[in-house]
Amino acid sequence: MEHLIKKHFVVTGGTSGLGYAITQQLLKKGAQVTLLIRDVQKYYNTHFPTNTHLLDYQICDLAQPEDIKQLAFKQPIDGVIHSAGLGYFKPILEHTENEMLETYRINLIHFNLLLQQLKPYFNPHPYIVGISSLAAFSTQTSSGHYAASKAGFNQVLNTLRLENPNYHVLVVNAGPIRTPFHAKADPTLKYAAQVDKWMLDPNQLAQEVIHAMTHKKAELYRPKWLYYLLKCYQVNPRFFEKAAPKLFSNKGK
Ligand SMILES: NC(=O)c1ccc[n+]([C@@H]2O[C@H](COP(=O)([O-])OP(=O)(O)OC[C@H]3O[C@@H](n4cnc5c(N)ncnc54)[C@H](OP(=O)(O)O)[C@@H]3O)[C@@H](O)[C@H]2O)c1
Repeated sequence: MEHLIKKHFVVTGGTSGLGYAITQQLLKKGAQVTLLIRDVQKYYNTHFPTNTHLLDYQICDLAQPEDIKQLAFKQPIDGVIHSAGLGYFKPILEHTENEMLETYRINLIHFNLLLQQLKPYFNPHPYIVGISSLAAFSTQTSSGHYAASKAGFNQVLNTLRLENPNYHVLVVNAGPIRTPFHAKADPTLKYAAQVDKWMLDPNQLAQEVIHAMTHKKAELYRPKWLYYLLKCYQVNPRFFEKAAPKLFSNKGK
């Protein structure tokens, strides 16, 4: 395992949810962190309990390519953690154009722009960590575009690993996590209430992400039981969708 003291990480989504928990872990381990944030006021209102002297930020609305393209760093980069992400849990035919574009831009396409912008600053063996979702492995009503964006994100990360064997690429496939994500994805919180009992704790997951990253793992799946269930589903997905339709329609409307 590599120590993280003085390693420099660029983190997206660090002012909320899992990205916030990961940022705390990195700071606790002595890493230097540059957050890419879109809301300075939110950043100043966010309490980071340890080593705040190691924390810096740059303003970057990831929806705006020009914000990404102006990013510059004085220090080399040892790792990038893309935790920014979102979804709109609603039927395919009800997504607005802006909702679709925002989903694919933040979850997938602008991550690629970000990598291209940061590449000149990378140390020879950078960590690239993508926070993806178990949604990438299953078809459910009302999460088609979110799942598609995460499936695409996984493909991009796995391809990146093949194309750059010197990069340590970790794909984190998580089930529901107890974060503000749900209030935006489905303001009724219907899905969040259904999965409340087994929602992942972001602090626990953040520790596991850092552990997997420093041990140079390629993938992390949590919760494991849901991952194994989805593996069975993939053997004959259309059969399972017919046999247990309720399991595939618990998101959104
Ligand atoms: N929560 C879950 O159940 C769950 C399950 C599986 C996977 N995930 C994935 O986990 C990752 C972290 O999500 P979370 O649960 O921590 O959700 P969250 O609390 O809503 O955090 C999402 C983060 O993304 C940032 N973000 C969104 N749009 C942005 C933009 N245009 N520019 C810059 N930053 C932007 C947000 O910034 P602000 O702080 O400014 O709002 C926020 O910090 C996401 O990729 C999500 O898809 C979540």
